[in-house]
Amino acid sequence: MSITFYEKERLFKLDTPNSSYVIGIVDKEGFVGHAYYGKKINGIAGIKDQLRVHEAPFTPEVNNRDRLSFYDCFPMEYSFHGVGDFRESSIRVKAPNGAVGVKLTYVSHEITRGKEKLQGLPATFGNEEEVDSLKIYCQDSVLGMMVCLKYSVFADVDAITRSVEIVNQSVETLYLEKAFSGCLDMDNREYEAITLHGTWARERHMERKPVGHGKFSVSSNRGETGHQEQPFMALVTKGTDDTKGEAYGFHFIYSGNFLVQAEVNQFNSVRMVVGIHPEDFCFRLKSGESFQTPEMVLVYSAEGLGQMTRSFHDLYRKHLIRSPYLHKKRPILINNWEATYFDFNTEKIIDIAKEAAKLGVEMLVLDDGWFGNRFDDNRSLGDWQVNTEKMKGGMSYLVNEVNKLGLKFGLWFEPEMISPESELYKKHPDWAIGIPGRENGLARNQFVLDVSRKEVRDEILRMVFEVLHSANIEYVKWDMNRPLSDLYSASLNADCQGELYHRYVLGMYEMQERLLAEFPNLLLENCSGGGARFDPGMLYYSPQIWCSDDTDAIERLMIQEGTAMLYPLCAMGAHVSVCPNHTVGRSTPFSTRGNVALTGTFGYELDITKLSDEEKTMVTRQVQIYHKFNDLIREGDYYRVASYYENRIYDCYLVSSKDKKQALLFYTQVMNEPNVHSKILKLRGLDPDKDYALYAVDSEKEETVINTGKVYSGDVLMNAGISMERLWGDFKSKLLYFEEH
Ligand code: DGJ
Repeated sequence: MSITFYEKERLFKLDTPNSSYVIGIVDKEGFVGHAYYGKKINGIAGIKDQLRVHEAPFTPEVNNRDRLSFYDCFPMEYSFHGVGDFRESSIRVKAPNGAVGVKLTYVSHEITRGKEKLQGLPATFGNEEEVDSLKIYCQDSVLGMMVCLKYSVFADVDAITRSVEIVNQSVETLYLEKAFSGCLDMDNREYEAITLHGTWARERHMERKPVGHGKFSVSSNRGETGHQEQPFMALVTKGTDDTKGEAYGFHFIYSGNFLVQAEVNQFNSVRMVVGIHPEDFCFRLKSGESFQTPEMVLVYSAEGLGQMTRSFHDLYRKHLIRSPYLHKKRPILINNWEATYFDFNTEKIIDIAKEAAKLGVEMLVLDDGWFGNRFDDNRSLGDWQVNTEKMKGGMSYLVNEVNKLGLKFGLWFEPEMISPESELYKKHPDWAIGIPGRENGLARNQFVLDVSRKEVRDEILRMVFEVLHSANIEYVKWDMNRPLSDLYSASLNADCQGELYHRYVLGMYEMQERLLAEFPNLLLENCSGGGARFDPGMLYYSPQIWCSDDTDAIERLMIQEGTAMLYPLCAMGAHVSVCPNHTVGRSTPFSTRGNVALTGTFGYELDITKLSDEEKTMVTRQVQIYHKFNDLIREGDYYRVASYYENRIYDCYLVSSKDKKQALLFYTQVMNEPNVHSKILKLRGLDPDKDYALYAVDSEKEETVINTGKVYSGDVLMNAGISMERLWGDFKSKLLYFEEH
């Protein structure tokens, strides 16, 4: 059992393999406080002092004349609202009389093996050997409200998850105006915050800055996660790097509005809160009704950011991604988007498929433009019927032809959208989210469907299912190309409009759940204008997510470094595209494009019929390399060796197998420098006691994997390092493979 309740001390201790988390109950009044989170501790003697209940004059029971001083500095497990803790509250509830105060005290608790599902929400999972769960029931007796703080502790990963369920046990209607998933109060140790920010085509770039007094947050109010900020923050002690220092990672398993905030207060403690963004959020809870928040993840590492990363990867691979494809090599795909955009017909697609099949590609994905009157992006979203003008013979003809070539077939949808110029909009204009009487805002000339409504979900899925049943379609790319705005649902009462953002996300989750139930063997890839929905919520439904519309190998180094800080490589959609690159106009060698894409799910996004013979040969070699190394890349441990963010010259990372018998090193020299010596790369993640044979892996050579005849000890590779020669030219890359000798 990784959760212990110390009855006499009224303490809970939650233990992962290398971390401990301690919660304490204040004796008389029953406030639930946070005592400790950090490196694993075995004993508990003295830990309750961390709650500072003995520090006069702060204990209400001995000094009630200054109760507010207590509230305003007590390390809360879930912070109150409006009663004297002036830091960020975790919950705000409006009572029938308009008052908004919330104060919670302990009632009881339950410790169980395993983990319950969170109804309607993506969440981590695990069996009774892998995870234990704790529920702490707290009440606000004035409101008649029960708040259950839920924790799950993993036996095999240094991760804890939290969520909260709020139950209205009163006879009145309450309005939940804020409900975070968790709060963490710690002593401030001059932390620095690491976040992932971006925009379209430049997602998840890393940023690091000191956390000063006041509040620092990342958030989304776009109704989806967005390109701009990842629902993540790491607090790290000064000097923390990949191998050393303490790192606390906070991530949110949700795909809608979020807030992740660090606040340093007057007494120099730091409060982290994570949850649904309270802006425009208000949930009506009638008597007996409850609200379940999404889940947040906490990861602690005493060994730097690298270890934090590997814990996230392991957690998501073992306890979040459900897909039957998780541990499988994904089919190498070719997507026609950058090859044709909207300008294609059946013949063109078959030509691409023919050439792709010859070169070893395994699946053809038909992107946007196959339906309705979709000759450009101004129309037809919502009309999910095959356009037989472009697709002579219909979908089943095309799929059969593609299958005959030995390729699987995949198809693009954007199920949550509606074009004003569509048959669907003519029939159901009120299905678009929009405020009556106000001009509805367009983005990419489209509106968002109100998928909080069941009839809307039913009709869209009916059309999608009809297409999917009509042919052997084994993969779906689920796209979403604009944020939500002009929030109003024709199906919600005036006092429930604040529920729309969240109900939208729940509706979208339900649609994906139903899609997977109808087609259990479907390989689903989520996407949102590139990587605006790269979040842990979507991983619960799809084992891979399109990383970015930017397929330039050099920009991808940055995007993939930021993404891989949290997400396992097997989840990152990555393709080779043509040069000059369509987003940045850069030309990079075909081999570098291949090496960078090999890190992720791997595929091509170009007109393969137009490649030169030399490039076609390289495709066949990249296919070989993929087949040889994908098991290692997909299942292995990720170690960053050098960061292009930091040095602006080169990028280097390594994936080693769990048994440390194999490792693959990815090196890209972004810029050549004159008159420099070879770089010494100190590797990581190897066994110091093993010897490794070195192989060069190269798609430019006929023999793609060549034994160099050299043998290195793991100890030498990690401490003395390996010398990487200067490569001639910019954007050059190398793959080195190490195998136990
Ligand atoms: C945005 C996606 O990210 C692209 O890959 C492509 O599918 C387009 N949408 C199609 O409209």
